[in-house]
Amino acid sequence: MVMDVMAAAARIEAAGGHVIHMEVGQPAAPAPKVAIAAAHAALDAARIDYTSALGIPSLRARIARHYRDTYGCTVEPDRIVVTTGSSGGFILAFLSMFEPGDRVAVTVPGYPPYRHILTALGCEPVLIETSSATRHALTGEALLAAHGKTPLKGVLVGSPANPTGTMMSREALTGLINAAESAGIRFISDEIYHGLDYAFPAVTAAELSPHALVINSFSKYFCMTGWRVGWMVVPEPLVRPIERLQQNLSISVPTLSQIAAEAAFDGRAEMNDVRHGYEENRRILIEGLPRAGLDKFLPVDGAFYLYADVSKFTADSFDFAKRMLEEAHVATTPGIDFDPVHGKQFVRFSYARSAADMREAVERIARWLGNA
Ligand SMILES: Cc1ncc(COP(=O)(O)O)c(C=O)c1O
Repeated sequence: MVMDVMAAAARIEAAGGHVIHMEVGQPAAPAPKVAIAAAHAALDAARIDYTSALGIPSLRARIARHYRDTYGCTVEPDRIVVTTGSSGGFILAFLSMFEPGDRVAVTVPGYPPYRHILTALGCEPVLIETSSATRHALTGEALLAAHGKTPLKGVLVGSPANPTGTMMSREALTGLINAAESAGIRFISDEIYHGLDYAFPAVTAAELSPHALVINSFSKYFCMTGWRVGWMVVPEPLVRPIERLQQNLSISVPTLSQIAAEAAFDGRAEMNDVRHGYEENRRILIEGLPRAGLDKFLPVDGAFYLYADVSKFTADSFDFAKRMLEEAHVATTPGIDFDPVHGKQFVRFSYARSAADMREAVERIARWLGNA
């Protein structure tokens, strides 16, 4: 559906219109300057060879240090695996943990590739609905209820989450991990939006359990989507199986991207400025959208997403998003992409672009809904 929205936006722009792009889930800012410089230097200095399958050792050590510096928790570099974005991490994680036919719980609304990758690997995604009663966090109770019906082998959650932008508190995450582990359900935590947490500090599952598998990426906080580099913190017994999988599936992660990623950790001041920009965008939307007429949305905790309930205007948010694009020139993503059950009630706004764009979007929506 989002591709249809993007194609329609391109047609409007080709005809001279100015579209505010709030449909794309990627940062508008470039990668940290130090990362780009490191890549240039590496290109000039030597051949770009394969690396070891688990990643360049100094990058793995740098990522391990990040856990100490950011969360105050100790993670051995041996448990870090560098991946081709978090997307590559999902494949390695699922292949190493599950067998065809295994049932793995994911939340709805949720990031669609979770269920698509599981299905492609012959696993069965089990969709568990979340609700505002729990800030859209999956609870241990709901997990165990689903497990009681037909046994689950794993569960995957993300916090901050896409598309909802909601986060799990330390208590919620701890409760879910404890429930999963008590029932022998493998726990996977997608932490790709860590660093973009505004409501309260994000908690890493790596701190809560050595058995949890954590997936992260340089795509979002570090603005390096196209570099295709991420990482996992994996339970110790899975290191060797994952190393063998990566050796066979891709040999290694692109070397230049690994070099840039290591340098990116020295670009945090620059990335924190980008983050402050998102915080300002978030403020503009939280204040402005209700005045414009969109007054119902989920807690805007983290990432760069706001998930708005538009059911008072429409029974079909795809049609709503289409009309908002055509008539107000504001592009959003209809919820049906993320939630086959209730998605028709919601649209997702991405606030990863400029504050000027956010103000303009709010004004256009207010005019469009007759609230200017
Ligand atoms: C929740 C979530 N996880 C994972 C990804 C994949 O990102 P990447 O493969 O670039 O790390 C995305 C991308 O939008 C996402 O929103």
